[in-house]
Amino acid sequence: MIKIKKGIPLYDQFDKNGFWGKVFGSSFIPETLFQPLEDLTKTFEKLRKNKKFLKERDEMYAKFIGRPTPFFKLNNLSKYLGGAQIYAKHEAMANSQSHKLNNALLHCLIAKYMNKKIVVGDTGAGMAGSGLAMAAAATGLKAIIFQGEKDYLRQAPNSMRMRLLGAEIHVVKSGSRQLVDAVSESIRYFVANCDKVHLAVGSSVGPNIYTRICAYAQSVISKELKKQIKEEFGKIPKNLTLVAAVGGGSSSLGFWMHMIDTGAKLIGCEAGGPAKYKNKHAAPLTYGSKLGILHGAAQYVMQDKNFQIAETDSVSAGLDYPGCSAIHSWLKQQKAATYVAPSDESALEAFKLCSRLEGIQASLEPSHALAHVCKIAPKMKKTDKIITLICGNAMKDFGIIAEKLGVKI
Ligand SMILES: Cc1ncc(COP(=O)(O)O)c(C=O)c1O
Repeated sequence: MIKIKKGIPLYDQFDKNGFWGKVFGSSFIPETLFQPLEDLTKTFEKLRKNKKFLKERDEMYAKFIGRPTPFFKLNNLSKYLGGAQIYAKHEAMANSQSHKLNNALLHCLIAKYMNKKIVVGDTGAGMAGSGLAMAAAATGLKAIIFQGEKDYLRQAPNSMRMRLLGAEIHVVKSGSRQLVDAVSESIRYFVANCDKVHLAVGSSVGPNIYTRICAYAQSVISKELKKQIKEEFGKIPKNLTLVAAVGGGSSSLGFWMHMIDTGAKLIGCEAGGPAKYKNKHAAPLTYGSKLGILHGAAQYVMQDKNFQIAETDSVSAGLDYPGCSAIHSWLKQQKAATYVAPSDESALEAFKLCSRLEGIQASLEPSHALAHVCKIAPKMKKTDKIITLICGNAMKDFGIIAEKLGVKI
């Protein structure tokens, strides 16, 4: 087992074969992608050190996305639960209402630098797609987005948003018609058109370079957070727990990246699915899925008894994914983070509570993290602190929430 090193961002701790912890990640790709990914890797390494490029990125992060996103105490929820003090990093305040724009914008800036006019991406909940459509509009590129039919329908406000932003939407009708199929189709499209288009994978998954670019882009969350924590408390407090939702794993990795050396406890919340069915979920880490390969990277991934990718089930389209980032797989193997799987029902309850007590309507993905916060906070001491990442706004989910609550709209 390869141990996590201190002082080096996780996205840079892969070996010469592209693996994190020797077995997670790397690039399982067709031969035709070898050169395009080599070119992308070289460009990314150059741009990370290019002051002009970083200045342009930082200006757009500030002016277009609205960074830094706020960090504050959830006073009413803390009082109501009566244990640990609860804080939020409110990433849903970003233009686009989620963290996905951080990654999408970086990809569009890289694509422009590489003289590509088209960006292609995947989306489940429609947040990565909306982010890519927005970033493409702002940088003068064309966006082509793949979304599974089930998600296209259940996340209709975002599907509409993408269209209005000028993106070309491809509705995927194969497989489970969810995120996993959308990612597969976007990669397929890229394989056939890699000379003209730039692939922007929506989470920290995929071949090594895509996992890396996304984790690097999202690490802006914890970079800001560390500063905000120091401003709030004067130092990094002891007894700190960071709770975030985990789908592909990009928001949680971004939220943890610069906090990993602080001794904070890290808890990732996967989708537990409907409470009454034990085997319906999207929680490969929590339920000990075996190592497998999905979307060009080795990771813990849900598989059936014939080693085929298993179907998932979650009320939250953004968490409804059978795999997880190679970096999360490594964190799990190293016991550097723990993973839990709150149910659909508990996420809905947490959504309602946070909405009513705090005036914050977290989408169903971060509501899974809020559900776990509601579970653990009352058992913790008043001197303990929890920070949760609210990485999405619920506007996209009101159709699902109304249906679950039996309300007609
Ligand atoms: C709002 C929101 N949060 C979280 C996720 C999960 O993805 P990730 O784990 O990459 O942050 C998604 C995915 O679509 C999302 O839309």
